[in-house]
Amino acid sequence: AVVAAAAVSASAAIRIPQARDELLSALRDAFGVAVNTAFPSLRDISPEAARPVVRLPGGPKFPHDAQCDNAMSAYSALSRAGQLPAGVRSPRDVGVAIAAALPPNGMIARTEVAGPGFINIFVNDGLLTSRCASILKEGLQAPPRRPRHVAIDYSSPNIAKDMHVGHLRSTIIGDAISRILEYAGHRISRINHVGDWGTQFGMLLAHLKDTFPDYETRTPDISNLTVLYKEAKVRFDDKSDPEFKQRAYKEVVALQAGDEVNLRLWRTMVEVSAAMFNDVYKRLGVHPGLYLCGESFYNPLIPSTIEELSSKGLLTEDEGALLMFIEGEKVPLMVRKSDGGYGYDSTDLAAIRYRIQDLKADWLVYVIDAGQALHLRLTFKAAEVAGWADPAKHRIDHVSFGIVCGEDKKRFRTRSGETVRLVDLLDQAKAIMIERLQDRKEGAEAAAADDSTPGHAAAASASVITDAAEIEATAEGMGYGAVKYFDLKQNRLSDYIFNYDRMLSSDGDTAVYLQYQFARMHSILRKAAEKGHDVDGAVAAAAITITHPSEHKLLFQLASWADAVAEAEDSLNPHVLCKWLYETSTYYAEFQRDCRVIGDENFASRVAIVAATVAAVKTAMEVIGIPPVNRL
Ligand code: ARG
Repeated sequence: AVVAAAAVSASAAIRIPQARDELLSALRDAFGVAVNTAFPSLRDISPEAARPVVRLPGGPKFPHDAQCDNAMSAYSALSRAGQLPAGVRSPRDVGVAIAAALPPNGMIARTEVAGPGFINIFVNDGLLTSRCASILKEGLQAPPRRPRHVAIDYSSPNIAKDMHVGHLRSTIIGDAISRILEYAGHRISRINHVGDWGTQFGMLLAHLKDTFPDYETRTPDISNLTVLYKEAKVRFDDKSDPEFKQRAYKEVVALQAGDEVNLRLWRTMVEVSAAMFNDVYKRLGVHPGLYLCGESFYNPLIPSTIEELSSKGLLTEDEGALLMFIEGEKVPLMVRKSDGGYGYDSTDLAAIRYRIQDLKADWLVYVIDAGQALHLRLTFKAAEVAGWADPAKHRIDHVSFGIVCGEDKKRFRTRSGETVRLVDLLDQAKAIMIERLQDRKEGAEAAAADDSTPGHAAAASASVITDAAEIEATAEGMGYGAVKYFDLKQNRLSDYIFNYDRMLSSDGDTAVYLQYQFARMHSILRKAAEKGHDVDGAVAAAAITITHPSEHKLLFQLASWADAVAEAEDSLNPHVLCKWLYETSTYYAEFQRDCRVIGDENFASRVAIVAATVAAVKTAMEVIGIPPVNRL
């Protein structure tokens, strides 16, 4: 080849990524330099083709760690421009030239040009073992980013109504994203924007007063708030009773005007509902920092918000209503209704202004179903037009998600056509797991009673949970974790079919599988300690050497964590970390298949690898909000 073999200046040398840095992105930098060095004119011919494309291989079956795919596009750009250097006759030659021009980088052990010009990358063992040691010493670290103050709005169910599966998604995805962003170093304000100020309170108040005539002296028993809601709704929708509708309307006006009795009844309803939501949050392990800051909170802030919009000339009057039209949008925001009342739009305008100006958040995240995309787009644009949000300073995201479907691919409903209650789903998942753990226990007991296999029996019963309380706790962790993981592992924009068999399966990409692999890691550490091996000493020494390709694969996977976190953060897509967890578990399974730990001459190194994987998986599970289970 005629291509100058990498006269690389010292200044082009690449900084070796530290433990918390993104590895793929450092490789990308190295290839960026290589492409430029090998073909200096390419940048001007086609910036696109000169931009380094480095990615993970198409699956675990490939032996290389990563690959650079620039050769093919660089070849066509150069040949189109008639700038191919002499001697370069194929994309493959381009690949060879790029690889030869790699600057010293401390990361790449060797490269190999494959097929039409893919450059396969093999990373240094030393880089991976030192990263693994750092996991043991400092834990799994997030890539460094400029910290922001994130106000994230999620869950946000409606008072007096049941939470449904749509709220389930918002709760699970929002919780995971808030954990990811917190882990990545941001400051998080978790906001539960509950519907606590809508017109539904009119009919509820009117119905309550009929049902509990002594409401002025005694607090009515509204523990069954959802039943009361349904009854009130039936009366409200009953065309033969227009008087009820009238009264409902008057009650809500009185409430919003600060009527003492109505406020007291309203507060009771909010409390009862909030307690029900909290029960679900506890079961789902939702971060305790999620605070109730519903629509009513913004009510007093609406008049000044409207005044500001009006003084800036942004509002249009239309038959008594105040509208805000936004350039390029057909539908306006309803800033004030013709009867003078405030609605969903008014509240969100006051809320976005509050979050930016008072809370001083510089990243706003709204985790709300795709059905509200228009409302949010209008709200975000309005905030910009009003001068509250500055695109250069504030990042604002609608984290949208698809619907949960039944087997018929339609919105998930019960047999009788009602929306599915969240608590019933969780109960069911837990019940299935209890049954399964019970079966395991009985299986182990039967084996223990069978004298012909005494050795087996003892071994089987030692690793099986027999204590009823532990079975229950584990079933909760696993059942709820499975529901959450099944939701999080989807690309959030797609709809998915709710299916217990698939989400509770012990193989495939499920939380149960992750938990199973995690328990296996623990079990090796436990057994090694029981047999008197110095596990703690090996972990403290963290003297890791790679002697088998499966070790290399597992450690590369652990080292790719920072890249996964960065991608999850940028895309606000927790499924990126689910994928990382699943792949880590499969690489671990291969490691355990190929590499003996207890009794092997490499014990100290291998047990340290197991311990690092335990630490990494535990952190990763916590980052997406799935509680790890040590024993099954
Ligand atoms: N309560 C609303 C619902 O159930 C969701 C509120 C979302 N947050 C917001 N700022 N609009 O549909």
